[in-house]
Amino acid sequence: MKQKVDLIIHSARQLLTLGEAKASPVAAGAPSHPKRGEAMSELGLIEEGAVAVSQGLVTLVGTTEEVLAQAEAEEMIDASNKIVMPGFVDPHTHLVFAGSREDEFELRLKGATYMEIMAAGGGIMSTVRATRAATLPQLVAQSRERLDRMLAYGTTTAEAKSGYGLNVDDELKMLKAIHQLDATHPIDLVPTFLGAHAVPAEFKGRTDEYVEVVVNEMLPLAEKELKGNTSDSSLPFFCDVFCEEGVFSVGQSRRILERAQELGFGLKIHADEFKPLGGTKLAVELGAASADHLVCTTAEEIEALAKSDTIAVSLPGTPFGLGHHEYTPARQIIEAGGALALATDLNPGTCYCESMQFIVALACRYMRLTPAEAIVAATLNAAHAIGLGDKVGSLETGKKADILILEVSNYRHLAYHFGVNLVQRVIKDGQVVV
Ligand code: NIG
Ligand code: FE
Repeated sequence: MKQKVDLIIHSARQLLTLGEAKASPVAAGAPSHPKRGEAMSELGLIEEGAVAVSQGLVTLVGTTEEVLAQAEAEEMIDASNKIVMPGFVDPHTHLVFAGSREDEFELRLKGATYMEIMAAGGGIMSTVRATRAATLPQLVAQSRERLDRMLAYGTTTAEAKSGYGLNVDDELKMLKAIHQLDATHPIDLVPTFLGAHAVPAEFKGRTDEYVEVVVNEMLPLAEKELKGNTSDSSLPFFCDVFCEEGVFSVGQSRRILERAQELGFGLKIHADEFKPLGGTKLAVELGAASADHLVCTTAEEIEALAKSDTIAVSLPGTPFGLGHHEYTPARQIIEAGGALALATDLNPGTCYCESMQFIVALACRYMRLTPAEAIVAATLNAAHAIGLGDKVGSLETGKKADILILEVSNYRHLAYHFGVNLVQRVIKDGQVVV
């Protein structure tokens, strides 16, 4: 008797499961570990592969022959000559914002730096002004257009940060926007409170006072908002800080993150984007889920990070978007045994890009990742960076059926052929959505 399932995708030229290398291909158990060091090259590739899906979850993976011997479905998708892989997970985005900043892009082309524009009251603060002026429905509508593009380019789960409100009401408005988008769009969103994204103009020169507002007023309300709005209390939510010269120091970041941890937030930090202040060390010490950016991280901190459970999230779209030439020292992180993830950093200032495919292409060229390492970083390791490593990021029995069918017959095309959309179909929770 064959098992009845909802959907079978079969005959894939290459099925990338991202599962454990040695597990039996059919009905592999779901490992909940990120891949580090050499294991970052393992795609769990099955030639002539098939996936069976039931009730939104993966029920079987294996060769087409193995899967068709065990299961039958009414809906069959023929993936001949195509790649089948898990949906991308984008673990660092500032997707919710109003307006745009193409004027600053042009100023930078003429020589102004990102931090100079910020110090002069532009940068993040100009998006804060636009976001404060927008109503909740306007904010949701503008952000939904970006979410649609992310889905079309293969992202099925993403993190989304607040951080353009910078006062109690507007930070809560942003968290509500993230919740509404999560509830009404196929992409699953993991929320992050980033009240410490910049020091708002009203607190100029009084950063410590603003930090106290974040700690005493915003964090408890953010926690209520985030807890009250999840259907499943086991779903993670995070707190992040922009730890950078002229923004928040390591001491101020510590103050915020320690309080957030007490309240049950998972932790993240924007560290070493422009100046190495010691944010990565702080992330490791506090057991943060991830440390993000990591462009000018010291060798000592890379060693500590690689030995910890904190995921190194690299955002190569950001130096690219800024026209800079320094990228995350990814080879050093991987060679030290670290778990590296990739994200877009989608935001209106440094990186207006929704495409994880483009991020993979950049990571291979400028950080010397192999295409296999970049795919692991953009799926399984990215899932671990947002606390969802046991639910998404690989095609294994019991995980969500978030699946991409790519219009190519070798996975290396993902990095090699860039600037176009190679995703032909997107399946989210077992349903074809693109
Ligand atoms: O990750 N560095 C801080 N935050 C963003 C930029 C946000 C913005 O410029 O609006 C980043 O690069
Ligand atoms: Fe960011």
